[in-house]
Order: sequence, then structure tokens, then C-alpha cells
Amino acid sequence: AQKVTPQTLLDRKRSHQPITALTAYDYPSARLVDEAGIDLILVGDSLAMVALGYDSTLPITVDEMLHHARAVRRAVRHALLVVDMPFGSYHTTPEAAVANAIRFVKEAGAEAVKIEGGATRASLIEQLTRAEIPVVGHIGLTPQSLNRMGGYKVQGRSIPAIESLLADAAAIEGAGAIALVLEGIPREVAARITAAAGIPVIGIGAGPDCDGQILVFHDLFNLTFSPGAKFVRRFADAGALMREGLQHFQSAVQDHSFPNDAESYHLPIEVAEHLAE
Ligand code: KIV
Ligand code: NA
Repeated sequence: AQKVTPQTLLDRKRSHQPITALTAYDYPSARLVDEAGIDLILVGDSLAMVALGYDSTLPITVDEMLHHARAVRRAVRHALLVVDMPFGSYHTTPEAAVANAIRFVKEAGAEAVKIEGGATRASLIEQLTRAEIPVVGHIGLTPQSLNRMGGYKVQGRSIPAIESLLADAAAIEGAGAIALVLEGIPREVAARITAAAGIPVIGIGAGPDCDGQILVFHDLFNLTFSPGAKFVRRFADAGALMREGLQHFQSAVQDHSFPNDAESYHLPIEVAEHLAE
């Protein structure tokens, strides 16, 4: 398969071929996703909750994101590699934000960064783009806005909220973003934003009318420890498979059937004979 670039995603939108996207936080998951031919791999800051056990995405640092992004980079050949900028890394000055984004490019090989927020981020998106860093926008339910939203709630359910989402999407596109993630909004709203947008729109909990879909890898495989949100589909139950494997290991060690002789190393025959003397 060919290397995916921002142009590939745009061509997909224009030819109505759905874009596939998933998160990955480490080497093996990134290899699986890349080898499956998924178009875009996101080192999402959801890793804070999903892989590091934090109770929101707010605490994760640039250094923690970089550590995971570098592991993912070593695995990815085909997909477009996007890294989330964590909370605090783009909320102070534009200079600090550009410097942090440059770290993701230089130290982790990110091909784009993703930042949450609408029209208020337009000028930053312009500055990052001028610094040769492609940007993916993210609006709707933005987990880094947890304290402002007062919980993870579906967004864009009133006329003013819908109007501001449409304006946010237009501002993000106008600022030069290469794509836009829509999270946790009614499908009707996502359909309107997608139809109006000239850039690819990738949905999560935003219904089927977006240009593509993204899910969290661990949600897809039931590797989380909470019931999934309404939009999560468990495409395979790796959690159940792993629990079963763990039980088999536990009992095989306890009943001395693991390891067996074929799973053990042996001495060369002459050494064995010498020992036996
Ligand atoms: O962090 C993440 O996984 C994300 C996707 C859900 C879009 O931002
Ligand atoms: Na994220």
C-alpha cells in the first residue's frame, strides 16, 4: 500500500471513499493497525486514560506523549502519523505551542499534530501551518475541555451550539488545517459540517455521514475496563481472549504442565553424559 499523505485523505473525501483511522500508543498495536491498511494512526492523548490509568486526559505531559509517539513511529510505514498535543502544550503562548509541536515532529516523526478547539485556535493553526506542521482540528466533545463542559457530554444539541460548531469548522479549515475530527455530536450536525467542509472530516460518536471514522484501539478490541460509550462497537473481544489465555497460563504453571520438555533447553549429549558419570 502507498504512503498516506494529507492529499490522500483529501482525495478520499472527494471520491467518497471512507477514511479509516485508529489510535495506537505502542509498537505492537501500531504495527497491527498499519499492516491492516488503516489510513491514519493517531497517538491520541486518550492514552492518558486508556493506557496510563489517569482519570482524564488533562495530566498527560509532552514527554509522556513523546515516549509513546516514538514507539508508534518505529512501527508505522503506510498510515499518516498524527500526534495529539496534550493539554497545556498549546494553551499559553503561540511560541511555546510551536516549540512543542516541533518536538513532536523532530523527536517522534509526527506528520501532523492535532489540537482541540474551534475558532479560538484558528490563529495558532495558521502559525503551526506556517511552521510547516500540518494540523488536524478537533471540535465537539473535546475531552481537554472537561472542566468547562462539566463532564463528557454530547455537544451541539441547540441551534446556537450548532451554529458555533459550523463557524468553528469553517475557521479551522480557513486557518489551513488538513482535516477535522468531530467528536460526540448529533449525526445531523456532523452531516452538515461534513457537507460544508472542504477538508476531510473524521468522526467519532458523530454518526455515519462523516468522510471517515476514528475509534480508540482499546475500545474496538474490548480492552477497556468500563462499558463503552454509545458509539463504541466491539469489533473483536481481545479482552475475553486475554482473560482466557491468562487462566490457561495460571493453571498450566500450577499443575506443572508448563513448560514441558519440548519447551526446555537441553545439554549437548557429551556434557549430559559427563554429568551423569
Ligand atoms: O485521544 C484520542 O484518542 C482522540 C480521538 C478519540 C479522536 O482524540
Ligand atoms: Na485526543
